[in-house]
Formats: sequence, C-alpha cells, structure tokens
Amino acid sequence: MALLAFETSCDETSAAVVHQGVVLSNIVSSQTRLHSEYGGVVPELAAREHLRNLMPVAREALGQAQMTAPRLKAIAATQGPGLPSALLVGFRAAQAMAFALRRPFLGLHHHEAHLYSAWISGIPPAADFSEFEPNVSLIVSGGHTMLVHVEAELDHHVLGSTVDDAAGECFDKAGKLMGLPYPAGPEIDRLSEQGNPRAYDFPRPLFHDPNDDFSFSGLKTSVRYFLRNHPEVLQSAQSIRDLCASVQAAIVDVLVAKTIRAARRLGVSCVTASGGVTCNRALRQQLAVACERAGLKLRLAEKSLCTDNAAMIGILAERKLIHLAAPTALDAEILPNGALV
Ligand code: KG4
Ligand code: ZN
Repeated sequence: MALLAFETSCDETSAAVVHQGVVLSNIVSSQTRLHSEYGGVVPELAAREHLRNLMPVAREALGQAQMTAPRLKAIAATQGPGLPSALLVGFRAAQAMAFALRRPFLGLHHHEAHLYSAWISGIPPAADFSEFEPNVSLIVSGGHTMLVHVEAELDHHVLGSTVDDAAGECFDKAGKLMGLPYPAGPEIDRLSEQGNPRAYDFPRPLFHDPNDDFSFSGLKTSVRYFLRNHPEVLQSAQSIRDLCASVQAAIVDVLVAKTIRAARRLGVSCVTASGGVTCNRALRQQLAVACERAGLKLRLAEKSLCTDNAAMIGILAERKLIHLAAPTALDAEILPNGALV
C-alpha cells in the first residue's frame, strides 16, 4: 500500500506516490514562467494555477505509479509554511481525499521535508535511512535559508536562519538589478562559469559572526550601489560575467563557511543541503571541497529534488507513519507562518 503526497506551498504543483522509501512517481508542474513576467510569485495567480493543475498532476502521479486511490494507505500534504492561498489547495484536497477514502492524513512542515530530501537518490529515487547519521543541514532557496542540526531521524533543532532576505532572493534581486529575468539564480550560475569571482569585492555578511544566522539584504544593496557607481559594467558581456561570479562567490562563501563551522562545532560527521539554490554549481562544488577538507560526508539533494517537490513530503510522511506519529485532524488548518523549531 502506497502513500500519496501533495506539495503546493509556493509555485510548484506537485504530487508523488511513495512506497517503502521508493518514489514511484513525482510529478512537478512548475509555474516559474507564469510568474517571471511579474518578477516574482503572485499569490493569486499561484492559487489559480494550483487549482487548475492539482487533479491532473495527482492523476498522472497515480498513473505513473500504477496505483489507484482505493489502494492508498495514507494521504499527506504540506501544511506550511508558504503562501496561504497556495497551501490551501493541496492541503484541503488531501484532507478531502483522506476523508473519502477513510485513510490517515498527515500535514507536514515544508522545511522538515527538505531535511530528508538529501537522503533520496538513485533510479528510481529511494530514501535509504539505514545510512542515516546525525548531520547539519543547509536549506537554501528563494524563500528560506537556514541551518538545522538533525540529531536523529525526526529529531532536529534550528541553529540559525536568515534575518532578512533568503540566499535565492539575493540571487534574484541582484540579477534583477543587472537586468536578468526572474528567477535570476540559474542565469547567474550559468554566466558565472566564465566569470572571475575575484573581479569585484562584495561583502560577506555575518561571515565572522559566531552565530549561525545569515543576512543577504546588505549584499543586494551593495550590488545596487556598485551598479550606480559603475553603470559601464553592464555594457560589456565579460564584465557582466565577472559581476555574476563575484556576487555568487560572496553568497556561496558565506553559506559554505557557516555550514562547515556549525558541523565542526557540533561534532557531526555529515552535512546535507537542499532547496533551489543547492542546484548552484559553485555551491555544490565548494561544499564538496570544504567537506572533504574537514573530513565530513556530504549529501546534496539531487538537482531534481532540490526545488520544491511532493516526493520529499511523501518520504517524510512514510517515516512519520513508521515512527507512529499521530495523524493530522481532517479539519486542521494550514500554518502559513509555521516556523521550524
Ligand atoms: O526551492 P525553490 O524552487 O523555491 C523556493 O524558493 O522555495 O527555489 C527557488 C530559488 C530561486 O531564488 C532561484 O533563483 C534559486 O532557487 N536557484 C538558484 C539556482 N537554481 C535555482 N540559485 C542559484 N543558482 C542556481 N543554479
Ligand atoms: Zn522549499
């Protein structure tokens, strides 16, 4: 008996079928192109798209997994955090399905699901928790940037998080100042490949601060002032590449240094990373180099599972059922601002 999971916290409509740690299907319908016209996610448009796409995406997930609704053992969905109108679509649909099928329902924390996405790998993707070890987990995307100490399965506490912008938001806002389309993160990654990361010097916010918090809005502001004082930089393709590489280096340096420092301080032997920014090649590479130097194992979420997806919700829901977690009430509410603790 398999489990069906939904994720609709932001601009991805996703449904996945999971069975004994194996992801039988994981369908993701991304709305990035719809929102790019507006330079960011528009909540009303996101909700409308989720409503339009949820059932086709769920049907495809069931079909690809050769599963029928009556054979499901449980239904799960993201409860929060996220955009209220977007969360409601997947959460209420999952509750209704659980009610109709008389199956347990699990409403899960989006960030908690990210914590385990780095343990899903292979073809078909499967989560192997026999290899699980205590770790420091970096969750880094357009909406969140945090470090979490995962002491045991389903046992974690947040070490620090961004006090202002998320790292992905910084990529996107810096890119917007350079005239790049939304979301600018992937484009900055691509342009940086042939850029010099030492061409321009940008601040590394909170780099030397002993806590595990991040701050990225000052970096974005320094890019704004830099471009005001040096508008000519945007006239040359090579200097744009250098600018991208320099901004990227400032973000990645901070993320990597603080992650490694937390792992050392806590004495864990493993680091994991997930969230959309974990697709960034420089971040993946620098984390790999730094972890090797520090004698730490590194588990990076596979690129297809870095961005928001229902597979990670399904995998976490199954673990919760195995650990006999209580189901969520069928009239429970979404938690749009629910913080991970
Ligand atoms: O996890 P995600 O799909 O959505 C949430 O924000 O929750 O992450 C999207 C973010 C965007 O800010 C995007 O610019 C960034 O991840 N991103 C990247 C890369 N790919 C996606 N940032 C830097 N380099 C990339 N390759
Ligand atoms: Zn996310």
